[in-house]
Amino acid sequence: MAHETHPAVPSHGIDPSSVGAGPGRAPFSEDSLKLMVAIKPAVVSFHFGLPKAEWVQQLKAWGIQIWSSATTVPEAQWLEQHGADAVIAQGLEAGGHRGMFLTTDLSTQVGSFALLPQVIKAVKVPVVAAGGISSAASVRAAQALGASAVQVGTAFLTSHEATTSALHRQALMSDAARQTALTNLFSGRPARGIVNKFMKDFGPLNPEAPDFPLATAALAPLRAAAEAHGLSDYSPLWSGQNASDCEALPAAEITHKLLQGWV
Ligand SMILES: Cc1cc2nc3c(=O)[nH]c(=O)nc-3n(C[C@H](O)[C@H](O)[C@H](O)COP(=O)(O)O)c2cc1C
Repeated sequence: MAHETHPAVPSHGIDPSSVGAGPGRAPFSEDSLKLMVAIKPAVVSFHFGLPKAEWVQQLKAWGIQIWSSATTVPEAQWLEQHGADAVIAQGLEAGGHRGMFLTTDLSTQVGSFALLPQVIKAVKVPVVAAGGISSAASVRAAQALGASAVQVGTAFLTSHEATTSALHRQALMSDAARQTALTNLFSGRPARGIVNKFMKDFGPLNPEAPDFPLATAALAPLRAAAEAHGLSDYSPLWSGQNASDCEALPAAEITHKLLQGWV
């Protein structure tokens, strides 16, 4: 994505040689494993499949439960066969990255209430519902469909504790949040965020985006320059399809509200 040569992208005075630097995402590693044995969490939850089998077995031997996201029935079955103790059925409404790992075909991705019952039928392990759940009523609906638990992302992005930027919070609590799309522009993999200028100009899906996770660092200088001017035009505004319950509250209070749906 040669954005420095594209007339639609302002330069913002960025030194092209700085592009590509900055933090990225790292996969689960030997170092992560060392951390896990020190902390011994009850659950380690993965996105994009599972790490290598010996690490999964090692975590399980320490009494740690393995959970991971499935976006299709075959992914749920694969996770169960490879040792997952619970499967998170991630519906298409979900904010952030699609956890898809057996396919890159977005036509395989379905909504939460279509995915959840099919996954429950296909696996014996407990199924966690994710995607578009943001209120006590939607928690209740997921439970009625057989979910053993729910995973909520978007509704916590405006919690006091979240490190969500002011620009991102503003977008989540505005009418702009009504329009989200899957985009690969910000990381190289499809993820759901509020549609902004960059997504309109170049995507939302663009085969020229650098491979995951390189797109994040490639965009970082332009994003920082725009944010310094109070613009979220080049920022990933991650959000699920229902941000309408986002409130600036302590996370405990949001959790308590959601829990009122669990019977
Ligand atoms: C900003 C953001 C970051 C996320 N990061 C992760 C992550 O690192 N690992 C993961 O398993 N899921 C991640 N998710 C996905 C959520 O776990 C979950 O599938 C999703 O948020 C549920 O849908 P909802 O956003 O409609 O509540 C993230 C979601 C958001 C919104």
